[in-house]
Amino acid sequence: MKTLLTLALLTLGLGATPSYGAPPVDVADARFTFCITCHGANAQGNPGVAAPRLGGLPAWHLENQLRAFRAGWRGVAEADEHGDVMRTMALALGDDAELREAAAWAASLEAPAPAPTLTGGDPRRGKTLYAPCAACHGTQGEGVAALEAPPLAGQNDWYLEAQLEHYAAGRRGFDPADTRGQQMRALAGTLSTARDRRDVLAYLATLGAPAP
Ligand code: HEC
Ligand code: HEC
Repeated sequence: MKTLLTLALLTLGLGATPSYGAPPVDVADARFTFCITCHGANAQGNPGVAAPRLGGLPAWHLENQLRAFRAGWRGVAEADEHGDVMRTMALALGDDAELREAAAWAASLEAPAPAPTLTGGDPRRGKTLYAPCAACHGTQGEGVAALEAPPLAGQNDWYLEAQLEHYAAGRRGFDPADTRGQQMRALAGTLSTARDRRDVLAYLATLGAPAP
C-alpha cells in the first residue's frame, strides 16, 4: 500500500524538487563554481565586490541578464565598472546551452534574503512612489514572469539602488534593441531624485523575499 502510494505520488510528480521545468541542477557543477567567488557561497550577494543575490531568483531573469551582458546592453557604459566585470564573466560562458544552464544553476541555489543596508529612506512615501512599479513588478515586489519584470523584494538594496541610478543616467536601457531595458529606463525617470529612489527601496525592504 505504502509502495503504491509512493508510486502514485511519483507519477504525479509530487515530492520532486521543483526546477522550473528544466532537468535537475547539480549545485556542485564545476563549470559554475567560479561564480560564487564573487556572488557568495549560496549566491546570496556580496557587497564587497558589488555582486548581487542570484540564488532563489527566477532562472528566466538571470538568463535575460546574462544575455544582456553578452549583447552589450549592460556593462559597456563609462562609469559602469561593476557591469564591465560581469560582462567579462558572461562572455566567458560557452554556447547558449551553457548560458541557460548557468542561469538555472544560480537560480537553484538557496540564498537567504539579505538584510537591508540602506538608511534614511521613508517607506511610507516609498509605498506611494512604488504604485506604478507594481503593475510590472507585482504588488509584493515578487516579479511578473509574463512581463519579464524581475522580483525586487529580496534583492540586495544597494544593488537595486545602483541599477536605478544606471537606468536614470542612461547606462542601462540605452540600446533600442533592449526593449526590456528601455521600458525600465522610462520608468526609472519617474523616480527623479536620490531621495525618491531611497524611499522606494525602504518600502521594498519591508516586503520580504518572495517564495522561490
Ligand atoms: C569577478 C566577479 C564575478 C564573477 C566571477 C561572476 N559575477 Fe555575476 N556579477 C558580478 C557583478 C559585480 C555584478 C553586478 C553588475 C552590475 O552592477 O551591473 C554581477 C551581476 C550578475 C547578474 C545580474 C543579476 C541581476 O539581477 O541583474 C547575473 C545574472 C550574474 N551576475 C550571474 C553570474 C553567473 C551565472 C556567474 C558565473 C558564470 C557570475 N555571475 C560570475 C560579478 C561577478
Ligand atoms: C512596464 C513595466 C515596468 C514597470 C512599470 C517598472 N519596471 Fe522595473 N523592470 C521592468 C523590466 C522588464 C525589467 C528588466 C529590465 C532589463 O532586463 O534590463 C525591470 C528591471 C528593474 C530593475 C533592475 C533589477 C535587476 O535585477 O537588474 C529595477 C531595480 C527595477 N526594475 C525597479 C523598478 C521600479 C522602482 C519601478 C517603479 C518606479 C519599476 N521598476 C517599474 C519592467 C518594469
